[in-house]
Amino acid sequence: MNWLTGFLKSSVGRKFVMAFTGLFLCFFLVVHLAGNLMLYIGGEAYNNYAHKLHSNEEFLLIAEVLLFSAFALHIALAFTTTLENFRARKKSYKLVETKRDDRTMPLSASTDYTMMITGMIGLFFLVWHISDFKLEFGWEALLEGQNPAQKVGVILANWSRVLIYTLGSVAFGIHVSHGLASACQTIGFNHPKYTPAINVISKVFGVIVAVGFSSFPILANMYPDLLNFSGVVTNSH
Ligand code: HEM
Repeated sequence: MNWLTGFLKSSVGRKFVMAFTGLFLCFFLVVHLAGNLMLYIGGEAYNNYAHKLHSNEEFLLIAEVLLFSAFALHIALAFTTTLENFRARKKSYKLVETKRDDRTMPLSASTDYTMMITGMIGLFFLVWHISDFKLEFGWEALLEGQNPAQKVGVILANWSRVLIYTLGSVAFGIHVSHGLASACQTIGFNHPKYTPAINVISKVFGVIVAVGFSSFPILANMYPDLLNFSGVVTNSH
């Protein structure tokens, strides 16, 4: 295991693990959004999808362990790397070096800073999200006897969740719009010919994530009929 700790301690190793886990999490976002889009087809289509997902317990368990390990590694490495970068910086903490040695720019304008802020907003959202949908914490009475589509309708009809879910979705969109291209570069998938296209794909992916995920809380409140939550009764929890 020495090679593994050595690899994770080296900056190249850490960048590689961050890129690899980031790409895996992007793949999860695609699958998760595709599943949620079933709500546009109708409550029944979404319930069938949720039922199929939960009927294969072994698959679900393996997927969840992989998912949470990827999140944990990605977040832990983001914090340790950022902390070390701060410590290693000889210049004022308010300035970071640009790729040109003779210039500095405000820290708040750097992509590192944007990635850290959007990542932290995303993490804040995830804690609420897991607490809402996996643990159903505080929702027990309202979700009692509801089917999966109705549960989404009940939770997203709450105004505080509209704010948290929209903010989280937009933060994830901004995060991946830079992260996807950056991860491709780290794993060596860059070439003068393809890099411009990868950058565009990354931005488009970011917009799809932000608009796609935030459409659910927004529409659940403004046009609940469009999402067809199987006649769910909304609440003011
Ligand atoms: C805003 C729209 C979203 C809706 C309606 C939604 C809906 C759901 C639902 C219903 C579940 C529970 C699945 C189950 O039955 O086990 C879930 C789980 C989860 N969602 Fe979302 N989600 C949204 C956005 C996001 C975003 C942006 C992320 C970003 C990473 C995300 C990450 C997760 C994770 C990690 C789980 C736990 C998966 C598991 O352990 O099985 N979700 N979501």
